[in-house]
Amino acid sequence: MKFIVCDSYEEMSREGAAIIAELMKKKPDCLLGLATGSTPVGMYRELIRLHEAGEIDFSAVRTYNLDEYYPISPENEQSYRYFMNHNLFDHVNIKKENTHVPDGSAADPDAACAAYEAEYQATGGADIQVLGIGQNGHIAFNEPEEKLYAATHVTGLTQNTIEANARFFASVDEVPTRAMTMGMGTIMAARKIILLANGKNKHAAVEAMKEGRITTAVPATLLALHRDVVVICDREAYHG
Ligand code: PGA
Repeated sequence: MKFIVCDSYEEMSREGAAIIAELMKKKPDCLLGLATGSTPVGMYRELIRLHEAGEIDFSAVRTYNLDEYYPISPENEQSYRYFMNHNLFDHVNIKKENTHVPDGSAADPDAACAAYEAEYQATGGADIQVLGIGQNGHIAFNEPEEKLYAATHVTGLTQNTIEANARFFASVDEVPTRAMTMGMGTIMAARKIILLANGKNKHAAVEAMKEGRITTAVPATLLALHRDVVVICDREAYHG
Protein backbone atom coordinates (compact mmCIF):
# COMPACT_ATOMS: atom_id res chain seq x y z
CA MET A 1 0.00 0.00 0.00
CA LYS A 2 1.42 3.33 -1.05
CA PHE A 3 0.48 6.63 0.62
CA ILE A 4 0.58 9.99 -1.13
CA VAL A 5 0.22 12.80 1.42
CA CYS A 6 -1.00 16.08 -0.05
CA ASP A 7 -1.12 19.64 1.28
CA SER A 8 -4.71 20.26 0.29
CA TYR A 9 -7.91 18.70 -0.96
CA GLU A 10 -7.28 20.33 -4.36
CA GLU A 11 -3.87 18.68 -4.61
CA MET A 12 -5.42 15.30 -3.69
CA SER A 13 -8.04 15.79 -6.38
CA ARG A 14 -5.37 16.61 -8.98
CA GLU A 15 -3.25 13.59 -7.97
CA GLY A 16 -6.21 11.23 -8.31
CA ALA A 17 -7.32 12.73 -11.62
CA ALA A 18 -3.77 12.54 -13.01
CA ILE A 19 -3.62 8.78 -12.36
CA ILE A 20 -6.95 8.27 -14.13
CA ALA A 21 -6.04 10.61 -17.00
CA GLU A 22 -2.78 8.74 -17.59
CA LEU A 23 -4.70 5.45 -17.81
CA MET A 24 -7.28 6.97 -20.19
CA LYS A 25 -4.54 8.18 -22.54
CA LYS A 26 -2.91 4.74 -22.58
CA LYS A 27 -6.15 2.77 -22.74
CA PRO A 28 -9.06 4.78 -24.21
CA ASP A 29 -11.56 1.97 -23.56
CA CYS A 30 -10.49 1.51 -19.94
CA LEU A 31 -12.92 0.42 -17.27
CA LEU A 32 -13.21 2.71 -14.25
CA GLY A 33 -14.73 1.68 -10.94
CA LEU A 34 -16.24 4.84 -9.48
CA ALA A 35 -17.37 6.03 -6.08
CA THR A 36 -19.80 8.63 -4.74
CA GLY A 37 -19.57 10.70 -1.54
CA SER A 38 -18.17 14.16 -1.04
CA THR A 39 -14.50 13.11 -1.28
CA PRO A 40 -14.21 12.32 -5.03
CA VAL A 41 -16.17 15.40 -6.17
CA GLY A 42 -13.00 17.49 -6.59
CA MET A 43 -11.35 14.73 -8.59
CA TYR A 44 -14.38 14.48 -10.88
CA ARG A 45 -14.25 18.29 -11.30
CA GLU A 46 -10.59 17.99 -12.33
CA LEU A 47 -11.42 15.20 -14.81
CA ILE A 48 -14.11 17.46 -16.33
CA ARG A 49 -11.52 20.25 -16.61
CA LEU A 50 -9.03 17.93 -18.33
CA HIS A 51 -11.79 16.82 -20.71
CA GLU A 52 -12.71 20.43 -21.52
CA ALA A 53 -9.02 21.17 -22.12
CA GLY A 54 -9.04 18.41 -24.73
CA GLU A 55 -6.66 16.20 -22.76
CA ILE A 56 -8.93 13.23 -22.09
CA ASP A 57 -11.68 11.52 -24.06
CA PHE A 58 -14.45 9.50 -22.41
CA SER A 59 -16.07 8.23 -25.63
CA ALA A 60 -14.92 4.63 -25.14
CA VAL A 61 -14.63 4.61 -21.33
CA ARG A 62 -16.82 2.21 -19.34
CA THR A 63 -17.69 2.68 -15.68
CA TYR A 64 -19.10 0.59 -12.84
CA ASN A 65 -20.10 2.26 -9.60
CA LEU A 66 -19.61 0.71 -6.20
CA ASP A 67 -23.06 1.09 -4.73
CA GLU A 68 -26.54 2.60 -4.62
CA TYR A 69 -29.15 3.14 -1.94
CA TYR A 70 -32.12 0.74 -1.88
CA PRO A 71 -34.85 1.40 -2.57
CA ILE A 72 -34.38 4.62 -4.48
CA SER A 73 -35.38 5.88 -7.90
CA PRO A 74 -32.52 6.84 -10.26
CA GLU A 75 -34.26 10.22 -10.68
CA ASN A 76 -34.15 10.92 -6.94
CA GLU A 77 -31.58 13.67 -6.37
CA GLN A 78 -30.07 11.66 -3.50
CA SER A 79 -29.51 8.57 -5.63
CA TYR A 80 -25.98 7.70 -6.58
CA ARG A 81 -27.05 7.47 -10.23
CA TYR A 82 -28.16 11.12 -10.03
CA PHE A 83 -24.92 12.02 -8.24
CA MET A 84 -22.78 10.47 -10.97
CA ASN A 85 -24.73 12.12 -13.78
CA HIS A 86 -24.60 15.46 -12.01
CA ASN A 87 -20.95 15.38 -10.87
CA LEU A 88 -19.33 13.72 -13.88
CA PHE A 89 -21.24 11.96 -16.65
CA ASP A 90 -23.36 14.94 -17.81
CA HIS A 91 -20.19 17.03 -18.26
CA VAL A 92 -18.04 14.70 -20.36
CA ASN A 93 -18.48 12.75 -23.59
CA ILE A 94 -19.16 9.41 -21.94
CA LYS A 95 -21.89 7.23 -23.42
CA LYS A 96 -24.58 6.76 -20.76
CA GLU A 97 -25.03 3.14 -21.82
CA ASN A 98 -21.39 2.56 -20.84
CA THR A 99 -22.05 3.73 -17.26
CA HIS A 100 -23.31 1.28 -14.66
CA VAL A 101 -24.75 1.90 -11.21
CA PRO A 102 -26.65 -0.78 -9.26
CA ASP A 103 -30.39 -0.37 -9.92
CA GLY A 104 -31.97 1.02 -6.76
CA SER A 105 -35.42 0.59 -8.31
CA ALA A 106 -35.07 -3.15 -9.04
CA ALA A 107 -38.06 -5.22 -7.94
CA ASP A 108 -35.79 -8.03 -6.79
CA PRO A 109 -32.66 -6.44 -5.29
CA ASP A 110 -30.89 -9.74 -4.58
CA ALA A 111 -31.28 -10.81 -8.21
CA ALA A 112 -30.17 -7.36 -9.37
CA CYS A 113 -27.02 -7.60 -7.21
CA ALA A 114 -26.21 -11.08 -8.56
CA ALA A 115 -26.66 -9.80 -12.13
CA TYR A 116 -24.49 -6.74 -11.44
CA GLU A 117 -21.74 -8.93 -10.01
CA ALA A 118 -21.85 -11.34 -12.96
CA GLU A 119 -21.81 -8.53 -15.50
CA TYR A 120 -18.94 -6.76 -13.75
CA GLN A 121 -16.86 -9.93 -13.34
CA ALA A 122 -17.38 -10.73 -17.03
CA THR A 123 -15.59 -7.48 -17.89
CA GLY A 124 -12.43 -8.79 -16.18
CA GLY A 125 -12.59 -6.08 -13.50
CA ALA A 126 -11.79 -2.39 -13.40
CA ASP A 127 -8.45 -1.00 -14.52
CA ILE A 128 -8.74 1.46 -11.64
CA GLN A 129 -11.21 1.40 -8.78
CA VAL A 130 -11.78 4.69 -6.96
CA LEU A 131 -12.70 4.46 -3.27
CA GLY A 132 -13.58 6.79 -0.44
CA ILE A 133 -13.53 5.60 3.14
CA GLY A 134 -16.00 5.93 5.99
CA GLN A 135 -15.03 7.26 9.39
CA ASN A 136 -15.58 3.71 10.62
CA GLY A 137 -13.36 2.27 7.88
CA HIS A 138 -16.15 1.12 5.58
CA ILE A 139 -15.51 0.93 1.86
CA ALA A 140 -18.55 1.19 -0.37
CA PHE A 141 -21.29 -0.11 1.98
CA ASN A 142 -19.11 -2.86 3.43
CA GLU A 143 -19.58 -1.85 7.05
CA PRO A 144 -17.58 -3.21 10.02
CA GLU A 145 -18.94 -6.70 10.71
CA GLU A 146 -17.63 -10.02 11.89
CA LYS A 147 -18.24 -11.42 8.41
CA LEU A 148 -17.99 -9.46 5.18
CA TYR A 149 -19.48 -10.38 1.82
CA ALA A 150 -17.23 -11.11 -1.14
CA ALA A 151 -19.77 -10.33 -3.87
CA THR A 152 -22.31 -7.58 -4.65
CA HIS A 153 -25.15 -7.79 -2.15
CA VAL A 154 -27.96 -5.97 -0.36
CA THR A 155 -26.97 -4.65 3.05
CA GLY A 156 -28.35 -2.63 5.95
CA LEU A 157 -26.66 0.70 6.71
CA THR A 158 -25.19 1.20 10.18
CA GLN A 159 -26.51 4.02 12.33
CA ASN A 160 -23.09 5.72 11.98
CA THR A 161 -23.41 5.76 8.17
CA ILE A 162 -27.07 6.81 8.22
CA GLU A 163 -26.14 9.77 10.43
CA ALA A 164 -23.08 10.66 8.31
CA ASN A 165 -25.25 10.65 5.16
CA ALA A 166 -28.19 12.50 6.73
CA ARG A 167 -26.56 15.81 5.75
CA PHE A 168 -27.69 15.18 2.17
CA PHE A 169 -31.33 14.53 3.10
CA ALA A 170 -34.07 16.76 4.54
CA SER A 171 -34.02 14.67 7.72
CA VAL A 172 -32.31 11.56 9.06
CA ASP A 173 -35.60 9.64 8.65
CA GLU A 174 -35.36 10.03 4.87
CA VAL A 175 -32.00 8.26 4.57
CA PRO A 176 -32.64 4.81 3.07
CA THR A 177 -31.72 2.08 5.52
CA ARG A 178 -30.49 -0.37 2.90
CA ALA A 179 -28.11 -0.32 -0.04
CA MET A 180 -26.78 -2.47 -2.87
CA THR A 181 -23.01 -2.65 -2.80
CA MET A 182 -20.05 -4.37 -4.36
CA GLY A 183 -18.49 -6.79 -1.88
CA MET A 184 -14.85 -7.01 -0.82
CA GLY A 185 -14.06 -9.50 -3.58
CA THR A 186 -15.70 -7.33 -6.22
CA ILE A 187 -13.56 -4.38 -5.11
CA MET A 188 -10.41 -6.52 -5.03
CA ALA A 189 -11.04 -7.60 -8.64
CA ALA A 190 -9.74 -4.21 -9.83
CA ARG A 191 -6.16 -4.14 -11.11
CA LYS A 192 -5.42 -0.90 -9.26
CA ILE A 193 -7.21 0.85 -6.40
CA ILE A 194 -6.97 4.51 -5.46
CA LEU A 195 -8.50 5.48 -2.13
CA LEU A 196 -9.07 9.15 -1.31
CA ALA A 197 -9.33 10.38 2.29
CA ASN A 198 -9.27 13.89 3.67
CA GLY A 199 -9.92 15.47 7.05
CA LYS A 200 -9.25 14.59 10.66
CA ASN A 201 -12.41 12.49 10.93
CA LYS A 202 -10.84 9.96 8.52
CA HIS A 203 -7.59 9.71 10.49
CA ALA A 204 -8.52 6.67 12.63
CA ALA A 205 -9.50 4.70 9.51
CA VAL A 206 -6.33 5.76 7.65
CA GLU A 207 -4.22 4.92 10.72
CA ALA A 208 -5.70 1.40 10.72
CA MET A 209 -4.63 1.02 7.07
CA LYS A 210 -1.13 2.32 7.87
CA GLU A 211 -0.81 -0.34 10.56
CA GLY A 212 -0.85 -3.03 7.88
CA ARG A 213 -2.90 -5.54 9.86
CA ILE A 214 -6.25 -6.71 8.62
CA THR A 215 -9.58 -6.92 10.41
CA THR A 216 -13.17 -6.99 9.23
CA ALA A 217 -13.84 -4.46 12.02
CA VAL A 218 -12.18 -1.93 9.67
CA PRO A 219 -13.03 -3.21 6.17
CA ALA A 220 -10.50 -0.89 4.45
CA THR A 221 -7.64 -2.75 6.16
CA LEU A 222 -8.36 -5.70 3.86
CA LEU A 223 -6.93 -3.60 1.03
CA ALA A 224 -3.51 -4.62 2.39
CA LEU A 225 -4.16 -7.91 0.56
CA HIS A 226 -4.24 -6.11 -2.80
CA ARG A 227 -0.98 -5.61 -4.67
CA ASP A 228 -1.62 -2.11 -6.07
CA VAL A 229 -3.36 0.31 -3.71
CA VAL A 230 -2.58 4.03 -3.62
CA VAL A 231 -4.03 6.00 -0.71
CA ILE A 232 -4.19 9.70 -1.54
CA CYS A 233 -4.81 11.72 1.59
CA ASP A 234 -4.28 15.11 3.15
CA ARG A 235 -2.08 15.75 6.20
CA GLU A 236 -5.02 15.71 8.61
CA ALA A 237 -6.19 12.29 7.48
CA TYR A 238 -2.62 10.97 7.52
CA HIS A 239 -1.27 12.49 10.73
CA GLY A 240 -4.48 13.35 12.62
P1 PGA B 1 -17.47 10.93 2.05
O1 PGA B 1 -17.89 9.40 2.16
O2 PGA B 1 -16.59 11.02 0.85
O3 PGA B 1 -18.76 11.66 1.87
O4 PGA B 1 -16.75 11.26 3.32
C1 PGA B 1 -16.92 8.42 1.99
C2 PGA B 1 -17.49 7.06 2.29
O5 PGA B 1 -18.38 6.95 3.16
O6 PGA B 1 -17.06 6.10 1.64
